[in-house]
Amino acid sequence: MEKKITILDKTFSLSINNDQITAAVDSIAQRLNRDLKDLKEEVIFVGILNGSFMFVSDLFKKINFLCRITFLKLASYSGTQSTGTIKSLIGINENLKNKIVVVLEDIVDSGETLENIVYQLRNFEPAAIKIVTLLFKSEAYKKDIKIDYVGIKIPNNFVVGYGLDYNGYGRNLTEIYSLTK
Ligand code: IMP
Ligand code: MG
Repeated sequence: MEKKITILDKTFSLSINNDQITAAVDSIAQRLNRDLKDLKEEVIFVGILNGSFMFVSDLFKKINFLCRITFLKLASYSGTQSTGTIKSLIGINENLKNKIVVVLEDIVDSGETLENIVYQLRNFEPAAIKIVTLLFKSEAYKKDIKIDYVGIKIPNNFVVGYGLDYNGYGRNLTEIYSLTK
């Protein structure tokens, strides 16, 4: 029987199980290890909070070369700010200049958030910016920024679990559930 859960007013059904998540994380780690291990520039991973924390934790344990990690958050405004405004990136206190910056995202949907992050990171003059996302809603993506590493492509439907939330809830689920229609 289909595994279902309820969060607040919505019902979600199991969409991506533990084995599929582990396989996707392993695959990304292997590709990153292969592509980034022998570069002359220093590599710094940048996890985007909050949603990516679980993915980053699992992925980073599988990275096998010398590197650093830091975390950033997009400042969120309540009330008056309309959506689509540029939110400032907070938490950059590392020197990113001339480094390979590897952005770790939980999910890319329209790409608005990612574009915003990349534009702001470019101001720090990194040698390169690589983009990693566990989940990618390819049909919803509207931007030109190349996503270098995708874990799992998913349909354009809202998901929760494994760090992703619905109104702040559901992040602790170990598997990924999608909204039932
Ligand atoms: P975008 O700016 O449209 O690409 O949306 C990206 C942000 O919206 C992500 O970083 C998430 O915080 C949130 N988001 C987009 N889709 C989902 C989803 O299906 N579940 C939970 N959060 C999502
Ligand atoms: Mg996010």
